[in-house]
Amino acid sequence: MMRVGCLASSSKFNQQRDIKNRIWKYLPTKRNRRIKAIDREVNRSVRSIIDNRLKAMKAGEGNYHDLLVIILESNIKEVEQRQNKTYGMTINEVIEEHQEWQSCVREEVLNIFRDKDINVDGLNHLKVVTMIFYEVLRLYPPVAGVPRRVEKDMTLGGFSLPSRIQIGLPIMLIHYDEQLWGNDAKKFNPGRFSEGISKATKNQVIYFPFGWGPRICIGQNFALLEAKTVLAKILQRFSFEFSPSYVHV
Ligand code: HEM
Repeated sequence: MMRVGCLASSSKFNQQRDIKNRIWKYLPTKRNRRIKAIDREVNRSVRSIIDNRLKAMKAGEGNYHDLLVIILESNIKEVEQRQNKTYGMTINEVIEEHQEWQSCVREEVLNIFRDKDINVDGLNHLKVVTMIFYEVLRLYPPVAGVPRRVEKDMTLGGFSLPSRIQIGLPIMLIHYDEQLWGNDAKKFNPGRFSEGISKATKNQVIYFPFGWGPRICIGQNFALLEAKTVLAKILQRFSFEFSPSYVHV
């Protein structure tokens, strides 16, 4: 199961700010005590939902088909198969699995902007947000493929392509290819972009949500800047959680 690690920020400025924030977190200020109390309350409430669901599942009651049941069932199976309770996720991990990237990314946004207005300089320092958008564009590319027309007879990668035919470059299929991306190709793992696109792709053209070459999207920087602005604004004020009826497909 994927474990998420918040990234250490690279610049000296970020490192100093990180150290300050880490120390600040442990001081018994009014705000920190409130954060801890809310955390305990949320955990208690999520744990009671999970406990009730486990009881219902054991009693063969209810007919739930949501993400929580899928995770719990897979966890129970794993523990049974290995005959060992240390395998599989603990209840805490089930809770955290949903929230870790979100907390990571919120922490980054609040570190940089606090409750102030979003500015371009700050947006350029958002590393985890950028990784998350890269991973979202890998798994859910808005443009799933691009067509190209062959202008003259040619051989490409061992294929003979006659002139005037049209070929498709399947962006989405290439983004999901396990031979290119590894066993976790279908998993949401922004961590793969922690050292940028060229490291994640080992300098191969296997990631092109904005196309490639002379016709590459001219709006890509604008689109990413706009998306980062909106996400940062949302994370400053709101949090996301799964709807109880959500099923991942
Ligand atoms: C997440 C958002 C976006 C995605 C995924 C995206 C994706 C793409 C892709 C894949 C292409 C290449 C098409 C090809 O090679 O045939 C393209 C081209 C293009 N995009 Fe985007 N785009 C996005 C946002 C934008 C925005 C916001 C603008 C304008 C403000 C824009 C303007 C263009 C233009 C003008 C081209 C054609 C470039 C050319 O043919 O020389 N795109 N885009």
